[in-house]
Amino acid sequence: MSDEEFYMSTYTPNIELNLPKKVWIFDTTLRDGEQMPGVTYTIDEKIKIARQLDELRVPKIEAGFPITSKGETESVKRIAALGLDSTIIALSRPLKGDIDRALDCDVPYIHIFISTSDLHIKHMMNTTREEVLNQAVDGITYAKDHGVRVEFSPQDATRTNMDFLKEICIAAGDAGAEMLNIPDTVGVMTPRITYEFFKELKNTVKTPLSAHAHNDLGQATATSLAAVEAGCEQIHVCINGLGERAGNTSLEEVAVSLIAQYGIETGLNYQKLAETSNMVQQLSSIYMPPTTPIVGDNAFTHEAGIHVHGLLSHRGNYEIINAEFVGKKSRIAAGKHAGRHGVFKMVRDLGFEPTEDQLKTISRRVKSIGDTGKVITDDDLYAITKDVMNIRMEDRVKLQQLLVVTGNTITPTASVTLIVDGKPMTGSGVGNGPIDSATNAIRNVVGHFADISLEKFSMKAITGGTNAVANVTVGVRQGDRLISANAVHGDTVMASVEAILKGMNRLLDKAELK
Ligand code: KIV
Ligand code: ZN
Repeated sequence: MSDEEFYMSTYTPNIELNLPKKVWIFDTTLRDGEQMPGVTYTIDEKIKIARQLDELRVPKIEAGFPITSKGETESVKRIAALGLDSTIIALSRPLKGDIDRALDCDVPYIHIFISTSDLHIKHMMNTTREEVLNQAVDGITYAKDHGVRVEFSPQDATRTNMDFLKEICIAAGDAGAEMLNIPDTVGVMTPRITYEFFKELKNTVKTPLSAHAHNDLGQATATSLAAVEAGCEQIHVCINGLGERAGNTSLEEVAVSLIAQYGIETGLNYQKLAETSNMVQQLSSIYMPPTTPIVGDNAFTHEAGIHVHGLLSHRGNYEIINAEFVGKKSRIAAGKHAGRHGVFKMVRDLGFEPTEDQLKTISRRVKSIGDTGKVITDDDLYAITKDVMNIRMEDRVKLQQLLVVTGNTITPTASVTLIVDGKPMTGSGVGNGPIDSATNAIRNVVGHFADISLEKFSMKAITGGTNAVANVTVGVRQGDRLISANAVHGDTVMASVEAILKGMNRLLDKAELK
């Protein structure tokens, strides 16, 4: 299976599709995505995300809504000045003040919107359809007169009277809008209805159409694709599907569906999808559930015996796309559903060559631990295998002493003494908090002989109250190897340090076993 092989449905439906050759990806992570309650980025973070989107080769980036604040204006201006390949866009109402502020940011493209549904016109703007149409045309004309490209959105389009929607779309196109974006602002559509809606619009409106869906009913990806099936040439998306309320259409889902389902090119560098999603998760502090399509931890993880067996014979049996295509790795997890083939593969990947009998015992133990409800980490599998194979090996890195200082007036600082291959080594580190500083201190010591990084971290309180016992699971990476490990301790910093050292030791052991 090469990186670009897809294993989709073989059914050929007898339906009329009006697919475009290419679909433009319009990313609004920095605008609609940041409107998500609880999400806010500093200017530097926005610049970091914009650079990453550019590496992902997103053709259009909506960098912000300049009129909302001085900081927003500044960040749009700075992103526009980066000289990225992506086209940088500013959002604006069709008001002179808004458009002037967007023009001040030196963007080449302005996205102008105004509500068009009777609901919004009457109960939000207290105006008339006629006034809305005039404002839209005046705003577009004003922006075009200042030499920028213009996209127009009739907000709440999917709850707008169809005749009025056609009228305002035609007027916006005549005034110079090059793209008409049709927002399903409150996510009320279904795929079938969206298809008909776009088909009807396309029959009358000659300017290219774009879809902008919200996920209130969990339909955003499906309705965006239905719009494409009716000939829509652009989709508005956010990384990780962030956005107001239930979010916007997910870039990852739509981009992969377009290429895998229909063979439609987007020009994206798909291998950057996982990295981009991770960056936005870190900076937004909104972490994706493991079941998230394409980028979730479980999207390419297999535990059940039958699946793993099938996967090992041909990846296409249980993976519709190759994990590497989106910058991920396919993974087998140990657990009560695991079969011998899967356990054998995992154990070999850890560096062991058990006999058939040993393998049977290892599989039995994995199943019985899984039956107790425990999640089995790589470190657990390692310990079981060593025990069954009677291998005695000392950990190469041991903790001798850890001192962490934190408080409201100092930068959290840690100093650590590790015994590395029998010799004491001391180092220190600072960080955002006690766990971060302890992790950095360990990395500073171990970094001399191994480039190991902490990639995943999760903590659960096992009991309630302030004296709860912490259960920490980490993913520790060296090169392309990622090892999971877990530790339980009454002290959150100690639980974290122990888990990290376990993972680190397993990575270092592998080198020795070979
Ligand atoms: O959802 C919406 O209607 C919007 C517009 C500003 C396009 O985000
Ligand atoms: Zn929106």
